[in-house]
Amino acid sequence: MPSFSYRYACVRCATPQTWGAIRYRCHVCGQNLRIQRKANANAPSATDIVTAFQESETEGMWRYVALLPVEAHWGSRLRVGGTPLIDCGDDGGVRLRIKDEARNPSGSLKDRATELVLAIAKSVGCKGAVTASTGNAGASLACIAASQAMAATVVVPASTPLAKLAQIRAYGANVCEIGGTYDDAFEIAERMADDTLVCCRNTGVNPFTREGKKTCAYEIAEAMAWRVPDWVIVPTGDGNILSGIAAGFLDLFALGITSGIPRLMAAQADSSDSIARDWTAHDETMALPVSPTAVAPNTVADSLSVSRPRDHFAALHALRATRGTCVVVNDECIAAASRTLAQHFGLWYEPSTAAGYAALQMGVASGCIPSGADVVLLGTGSGLKSPQSFNGVAEPLAVLPDCRAPGDDGRLHRGTCP
Ligand SMILES: Cc1ncc(COP(=O)(O)O)c(C=O)c1O
Ligand SMILES: [Zn+2]
Repeated sequence: MPSFSYRYACVRCATPQTWGAIRYRCHVCGQNLRIQRKANANAPSATDIVTAFQESETEGMWRYVALLPVEAHWGSRLRVGGTPLIDCGDDGGVRLRIKDEARNPSGSLKDRATELVLAIAKSVGCKGAVTASTGNAGASLACIAASQAMAATVVVPASTPLAKLAQIRAYGANVCEIGGTYDDAFEIAERMADDTLVCCRNTGVNPFTREGKKTCAYEIAEAMAWRVPDWVIVPTGDGNILSGIAAGFLDLFALGITSGIPRLMAAQADSSDSIARDWTAHDETMALPVSPTAVAPNTVADSLSVSRPRDHFAALHALRATRGTCVVVNDECIAAASRTLAQHFGLWYEPSTAAGYAALQMGVASGCIPSGADVVLLGTGSGLKSPQSFNGVAEPLAVLPDCRAPGDDGRLHRGTCP
């Protein structure tokens, strides 16, 4: 008998739904599903689980297969996860560590979700997958699908940064660029997956996206010798990283592996702040809102740019369960934070991560994060993915004076300028 059994349950009404095929939405209320783990009689103890992690010969996120809802390691070719937790020392009075998710195969944390989604998809006989994307989920799907000889289709808005689009195309995915927004792309991708042989990887709607992202929380706790940080800062758009990280820490706590849960700080861009709005409008005594407040995003942080977050309910629930909070930052703060991260720590991330760092600075300044706190910032994606946004945030280049001597032919001559 396996140590754990799994089933789907609605994130909102908790209606259970049977295990087996991939399920996407609650058949009662239409909300996203979560995956529930139930310990069987032969379930290992917390110590046995940790020993299994330590003795695992597998690299990256598959070290945690004992807690993943898939039978066995699926023959991953790329190393997903196993990313470093970089100790940045004291930063403005807090002890800062950055989880460097840019080291994943396609350069973002999304690979954890895709790796698990495709492992499950392959196990139920899917030949390919489709996703909507602001860029990174698509690059991730294209990358991991290529490594498994699976077909990938990515639906992107026309605003997708060129580097991300190039990445998706380089891996050979079928790209559908649409005239509309990410929100439109989301619905189109869902319709395109209307076939049991095509898996829909859409963030949040596919419950395994959240499940894969849990492994990032497992790694953070393991790197800290199963202590948890006081705060984890999570750049937030759809809210799926937020709900995944919360679920990972809640798992470890429920299994008795850790003795606490970190508080989560969701960092949103000020024009893409649906979760922050709904968070502040609903205090502890109120039921969480069923549908998100729609906003009109226009931010340099393209990965956070969503009108109606697709894992909204689970994200708000994650904030409640972790006594978390939301911080909203503007593009100017994101630009300054991007430079500081690169120039103080040698870590160049895309603007979404910089939004997280800006939120941390605001949290420290307001006293929400106390001095001396242990803080982990999720470095969710590489700066190489959105270089165009850096041009907008960097100081203008200093142009050298004309080095040509009179009569020079204007061709490039190597040498020292006078
Ligand atoms: C690099 C990066 N950071 C943060 C996010 C936000 O994650 P979520 O949409 O799950 O809130 C994304 C989503 O695309 C991303 O690609
Ligand atoms: Zn439901």
